[in-house]
Amino acid sequence: MKWLTLAALVAPSQAALRFGCSTLTIQRLDPLVEPGKAPSAHLHQIVGGNAFNATMSGDIGEQGTCTTCTFSEDFSNYWTAVMFFKHPNGTYKRVPIMQNTALPNGINGGMTVYYTQQDFNSNGNVKITSFKPGFRMVVGSPTATKSSIPGLKFVCLETKGTRFPELNDFPSKPCKGGIMTVHHFPSCWDGKNLDSPDHQSHMYNTVKEAFNPAGPCPASHPVRVAQVAYETLWDTTQFNNMWPADGSNPFVLSFSDSKGYGTHADYLFGWKGDSLQRAMDSSCMFQACENGRPLKSQAVNNMNKCTVKNMVNEDIDGWLKFLPGQGADNHDMSGMTGMKQ
Ligand SMILES: *[C@@H]1O[C@H](CO)[C@@H](O)[C@H](O)[C@H]1NC(C)=O
Ligand SMILES: *[C@@H]1O[C@H](CO)[C@@H](O)[C@H](O)[C@H]1NC(C)=O
Repeated sequence: MKWLTLAALVAPSQAALRFGCSTLTIQRLDPLVEPGKAPSAHLHQIVGGNAFNATMSGDIGEQGTCTTCTFSEDFSNYWTAVMFFKHPNGTYKRVPIMQNTALPNGINGGMTVYYTQQDFNSNGNVKITSFKPGFRMVVGSPTATKSSIPGLKFVCLETKGTRFPELNDFPSKPCKGGIMTVHHFPSCWDGKNLDSPDHQSHMYNTVKEAFNPAGPCPASHPVRVAQVAYETLWDTTQFNNMWPADGSNPFVLSFSDSKGYGTHADYLFGWKGDSLQRAMDSSCMFQACENGRPLKSQAVNNMNKCTVKNMVNEDIDGWLKFLPGQGADNHDMSGMTGMKQ
């Protein structure tokens, strides 16, 4: 009995979260890399809490009043670049986002967010520490010239359930079911800094392919935090019949990247109080964490209702002459150069 009690006291974390968040907003803001700038350099798709703004500081969990995520105590913001189709005639069209499989029906775009522990199927046996209020991080870089981070992937979807093979860059042929982008963040923290000048060096990446067990954390970054990952499903299917005659990939990320080497993602922690730590210390998996066991959750219609106002008024949905912010001379023109149909 004594042994059992001791085992219970040192019980490892057991939870794994997988949940949907609908689209909060699609606009040129980046409170992490370009705080205060409206517009920021390139277009992002953002999910999560409605405290999202050009500048964000303090405890975000105490600032939001709604969230587009299933877990209603999660006011974090999660974002990535946006995908565009470049037509052979030179104009760009934004690729719509579709909801993932294995999530409740009706989620408006958005992404699937994971906070896993050892790997996809197993909870592992290490204590998982929650992020602290004010914590933020970036994975990947829009200026990368080769694919070098194992957790940043593209998947050519046959159906919404396709997961392999994972590609380091854009698929080289039309994909019947769309394209999925996957972003795995590092999960080893230095235990001190909520951020760092490059938004990356307070973290250490031990990610391997897919959801395989990550390596151990190094002494420089000894604190194991949850393995955060995003999946975004881009509905490229309507463009497959406009694939260029020379066979080249027509899809680009919103900073003019047609290789995909610069794929990156941003995370700004905003779980209310100790909710994320409580979840990590519990033993729930995926949907079983909902309905107060131990996390409060909400229905899809409430997720879809949460939104923020558009602070950068520009056309992002027409056939655009330039990608938003990537125009011939400056940002301010990009709203006017869109070729509205
Ligand atoms: C965003 O920030 C601006 C400037 O600080 C502020 O005036 C505005 O109320 C904020 N918007 C939201 C939705 O919080
Ligand atoms: C480019 O092609 C799209 C799709 O057919 C069309 O809607 C758009 O008007 C074209 N733009 C130009 C400049 O030809």
